[in-house]
Amino acid sequence: MTLSPEEWHQRFRQQARWTHELRAHAYRQAGLDHAGRVIEVGCGTGAVLADFLGRAGLTSHGLDLSEVHLGQARRRLPGSILVKGDAHHLPYAGGVFDLALCHFLLLWVADPGRVVAEMARLVRSGGAVLLLAEPDYGGRVDHPEEMARLGALQREALRLQGAQPQMGRRLAGLLRQAGLEKVVSGVLGGSWTGPADPVELAQEWKVLRADLAGTLSEGELDALQELDELARARGERVLFVPTFYAWGWKDQD
Ligand SMILES: C[S@@+](CC[C@H](N)C(=O)[O-])C[C@H]1O[C@@H](n2cnc3c(N)ncnc32)[C@H](O)[C@@H]1O
Repeated sequence: MTLSPEEWHQRFRQQARWTHELRAHAYRQAGLDHAGRVIEVGCGTGAVLADFLGRAGLTSHGLDLSEVHLGQARRRLPGSILVKGDAHHLPYAGGVFDLALCHFLLLWVADPGRVVAEMARLVRSGGAVLLLAEPDYGGRVDHPEEMARLGALQREALRLQGAQPQMGRRLAGLLRQAGLEKVVSGVLGGSWTGPADPVELAQEWKVLRADLAGTLSEGELDALQELDELARARGERVLFVPTFYAWGWKDQD
């Protein structure tokens, strides 16, 4: 089972909602109000690039490998300059952006160090590189205990898809290796206020089922989903995947 282009967009919008406040803070720190050119590397369907819609004096750029995701972004963000390309070889001159950012990208790339070095190359002196959100499944917490199995399986499924499930913890080091300074890093908090929104939960399970299709039978997936929904209905479900962020500045020459 795969997701449709529109379902991917909804999924990316959901992830973007999780980091809304963090992004607002990061943009303030990075001086977005005075920025003229911003790029999101691995922009997907534009869920985060939409932050820059309608900002006077700002040009937003997005780059992604997937033509399908870019198609969605083009429909929604006619003002953005969107390019198909590989984050390991960014097709721009150095020093031409005020900010370069990514969001849920680095866990998917073959060489995150190379990608961050490319992002650092693009920004001008005094500009910032923002690694806005990368999960770390090595620190996942599940409750009730039976749900821990799901965590282990999902980590393995990500690895099989070529992802780096423990990406989050590496962010600060990657920025420093790329020569960035005044690096700030941390983890997004989690909160549990009751049963999840049924639409979001259904979407979450659609992605999980796609990830685990080759690993578990339909029956096993049904049983785990039921357990999850029951624990949420009782208000006892905990699912915490530490999501790291880090940003840093290119030195002023
Ligand atoms: C989880 S999505 C996140 C999309 C977007 N950043 C967001 O948060 O809404 C990861 C995106 O990275 C893109 N991607 C993966 N590897 C890439 C690469 N090497 N170069 C450019 N984009 C890549 C995928 O096509 C996908 O759109």
